[in-house]
Amino acid sequence: MARHRDEPGWEAALAAQLASGLLPSDARFNRLFGERLVPLAALHFTPVAVAARAAAWLTAGGATSVADLGAGAGKFCLVGAAVTGADYTGLEARPGLVEVARDAARRLGLPAARFVQADVLTAPLARYDAFYVCNPFAEGEAEPDEWLDPVLPAPDKIAAATALAARLASVPAGTRVAVHCGLGAPMPDGFRLVSSEAMGRRGALLECWVRRR
Ligand SMILES: C[S@@+](CC[C@H](N)C(=O)[O-])C[C@H]1O[C@@H](n2cnc3c(N)ncnc32)[C@H](O)[C@@H]1O
Repeated sequence: MARHRDEPGWEAALAAQLASGLLPSDARFNRLFGERLVPLAALHFTPVAVAARAAAWLTAGGATSVADLGAGAGKFCLVGAAVTGADYTGLEARPGLVEVARDAARRLGLPAARFVQADVLTAPLARYDAFYVCNPFAEGEAEPDEWLDPVLPAPDKIAAATALAARLASVPAGTRVAVHCGLGAPMPDGFRLVSSEAMGRRGALLECWVRRR
C-alpha cells in the first residue's frame, strides 16, 4: 500500500513507484517541494508524465548526461533520474530553488540528479549530450507568482530566449533536445522536429528535436 505522504520514508516509496514505471500524480510529487511551492509547481513545473516521456526519448538516443536548462525545483531531472539510467543536471538561476531541488534528490535517494546554480545563457554546455527546455523565460506572462527568489533572471525575455536558441545551434549533430511549452523563440536552423505531442497543462506541446547531421 502506498505510504501516506507525511509518513517517514514516503519519498523512497515515491522513487520506487517511479522506478517501477507507475507514475505518481503531480499533486503527490509536488509535495516534495513543500507547501510554499505547490501553487508554483502546479503552474510552472513539468508534469510527471511529460518529464518521464521526455527523459525516455532523450536517453533512447544514447545520451548519458542530460541537462535541464532552467530547472526550477528539479522536477524534470528528478523524474528522469528515477525512470532512466542517465545522469541529470539541472541548471537554475535561483539559489533557493537549487537548494529545494538538492534536498528533494537527497530525500528521493537519487544521486544521479544534480543541481547547479548557473545562468543558462553562459554556463558551459559541452559536457551534456542531451537537453530539456521548458520555456525558462516565460514566467510572469500570465500571473505574478511568488518564486523563492523574486528577482527575474532575465528581464528581457525575448532576447534571453533568442540567446538560448543561439546556444543550442552549436550543439553537435545528433544531439536530442526536448522542448515543453516552447523555448520562447524559434528553434534554430539545423534542427529536425521528430515529434510534437499535446500533453501537459492545457494541451501544451512536448516537441522532440534532433540536430541534423
Ligand atoms: C518553467 S520553470 C522550470 C521548469 C523545470 N524545467 C521543470 O522541469 O519543472 C523555468 C525556470 O527557469 C529559470 N530560469 C530563468 N532564466 C534562467 C537563466 N538565465 N538561467 C538559469 N535559470 C533560469 C527560472 O528561475 C525557473 O525556475
